[in-house]
Amino acid sequence: MKENIIRHNYAISKEERKKLLNQNAFLLWFTGLSGSGKSTIANGLERKLHEEGFKTYTLDGDNVRKGINSDLDFSPEGRKENIRRIAEVAGLMVDSGIIVLAAFVSPYKKDREFIANVVGNDNFVEIFVNTSLEECEKRDVKGLYKKARAGEIKDFTGVNAPYEAPENPDVEIVTDNLSVEESVKKIYNSIRTKLAL
Ligand code: ADX
Repeated sequence: MKENIIRHNYAISKEERKKLLNQNAFLLWFTGLSGSGKSTIANGLERKLHEEGFKTYTLDGDNVRKGINSDLDFSPEGRKENIRRIAEVAGLMVDSGIIVLAAFVSPYKKDREFIANVVGNDNFVEIFVNTSLEECEKRDVKGLYKKARAGEIKDFTGVNAPYEAPENPDVEIVTDNLSVEESVKKIYNSIRTKLAL
């Protein structure tokens, strides 16, 4: 019963946790089509932050859907639940003082707004990895577009399910014009002042 659950106050605050780690904590959320480069750019950025001594962790759609979210499909409801769980998990991790990177297609605007609400607007950095459908399909790293076009995958984003592009992302990466290194640098520069306490 929801009404019988009363929030417990932890002895250690987020401020204390951040102080111990000597860093700020927030969520870097990568959204974009499948094969747009979200995970690759997130990995590159995490490597850079890690080498600078920041405590980080990456949550990635393909991995999370093999574990905690293995029971979910790609229907709008399945995606909503996928994002809801990740938002809650990421929120806990941010509370623990960690810089969290999350790479999920997250095609619905409403679901992304939900994340910002869970972690707080100030702790949410939305990064739009804007690679055109044509380019993602051309790359087709996992061979999924081919399958989707052949009718073997239903609800595939960009083919037979929608992608609602962010209107006002904190950072937009147009990968047609930028290398992975340049993309990492662009994001890094935009969060630089957020990193330190
Ligand atoms: S989300 O829409 O719910 O945010 P998520 O990021 O977890 O998606 O998973 C997307 C990954 O699952 C894609 O990169 C792709 O490899 C794989 N995938 C399998 N089926 C689909 C589908 N129907 N639509 C999109 N991605 C799919």
